[in-house]
Amino acid sequence: MKLLITGGTGYIGSHTVVELLNLGHTIVIVDNLANSSTEVLSRIETITGKSPTFVHADICDRSALDCLFTEHRFDAVIHFAGLKAVGESNDIPLSYYHNNVSGSITLFEVMASHGVKKLVFSSSATVYGENNCSPLDESMPTSATNPYGQTKLMIENILFDLAKSDADWSIACLRYFNPIGAHQSGLIGENPNGIPNNLLPYVSQVAVGKLPKLQIFGDDYDTQDGTGVRDYIHVVDLALGHVKALEQLDNIDGCQPINLGTGNGTSVLEIVNTFKDISGQDIPYDIVPRRVGDIATVFADASIANNLLGWQAKRDLAMMIEDTWRWQSNNPNGFA
Ligand code: NAD
Ligand code: UD1
Repeated sequence: MKLLITGGTGYIGSHTVVELLNLGHTIVIVDNLANSSTEVLSRIETITGKSPTFVHADICDRSALDCLFTEHRFDAVIHFAGLKAVGESNDIPLSYYHNNVSGSITLFEVMASHGVKKLVFSSSATVYGENNCSPLDESMPTSATNPYGQTKLMIENILFDLAKSDADWSIACLRYFNPIGAHQSGLIGENPNGIPNNLLPYVSQVAVGKLPKLQIFGDDYDTQDGTGVRDYIHVVDLALGHVKALEQLDNIDGCQPINLGTGNGTSVLEIVNTFKDISGQDIPYDIVPRRVGDIATVFADASIANNLLGWQAKRDLAMMIEDTWRWQSNNPNGFA
């Protein structure tokens, strides 16, 4: 297939591009490099022996997208492009709504005008909000507690309405749980700008000596050791979930939300201790008050992904952390 991948030089996008190139698909990436670097492209080529076409453009730029769809006859689009930092979204909400929501509407309009109506969209488990009990399943009510989460929810709702209005659309809304890990080659991985917000990049930067100490946000939750529990999923398993979703788009009527998680919960302390064992590095930490907006336990019911896509996460926590550590220790400064 000929595929347009928005945000394809980013963390999850680049891993998905590797799997798609390995399967022989033709890939065009569009990315504005707001949170990624072109160095990823040469790493992808080293891993796969193939080069995706790269177009440096913004999904908000309608004429750039229009040119792209005129030049290429795409079979489907995987839409990763977006801003993703929860804290930042509270500070600059208009940028998040503009980039994520307006950018997505522009993309969907250009797709429709060129008759491309197959889409895989990067949604998030954040759309389950604070009031559902894990395991979270796709029938549960959705809500959002911050502008980033609102943008995911708004885009999902736009896609449900779009699919209702025109039966030609086939859309998979993939709700990711907590992607971690890196490609086994150690050549591509997560490369956050500045101080990381998420647990794994923070822990790996403490392990490699770039940050002095982890802060654990609360040890008084109702969990096995009092620290927060999440469903961490290897980014390569997540990438393979996109491949399966793409292959099954013809069997999806309308817009289908699909959880991509392992179904297992792991606590912050389990992550820290496993990271320590695997890396052989000390991970000093302090226990500090809970982070606003956090909940105790989040993990997926992944049965729709299993039944509809024939997909299941296969890589265990040890592999997730080994691959994270290989990436971080081989590339202490990311792609710089
Ligand atoms: P990332 O920041 O590494 O990748 C996103 C890519 O999109 C970047 O390369 C960035 O430069 C690009 N981009 C942003 N705005 C753009 C625009 N207007 N035009 C063109 N390109 C643009 O993030 P990621 O972790 O790979 O996440 C990919 C998608 O998955 C995002 O939509 C994110 O919200 C979603 N998601 C991520 C997580 C996670 O924990 N990483 C969890 C749930 C959902
Ligand atoms: C966060 C976002 C969520 C987003 C997800 C994936 C918030 C409130 N939620 O979720 O919207 O979809 O990332 O991008 O930001 N932790 C620490 N110390 C740290 C960092 C994290 O103790 O320095 C703990 C957290 O309290 C949590 C766990 O580690 O229990 C995982 O945190 P994180 O990686 O930020 O993911 P989420 O909280 O699931």
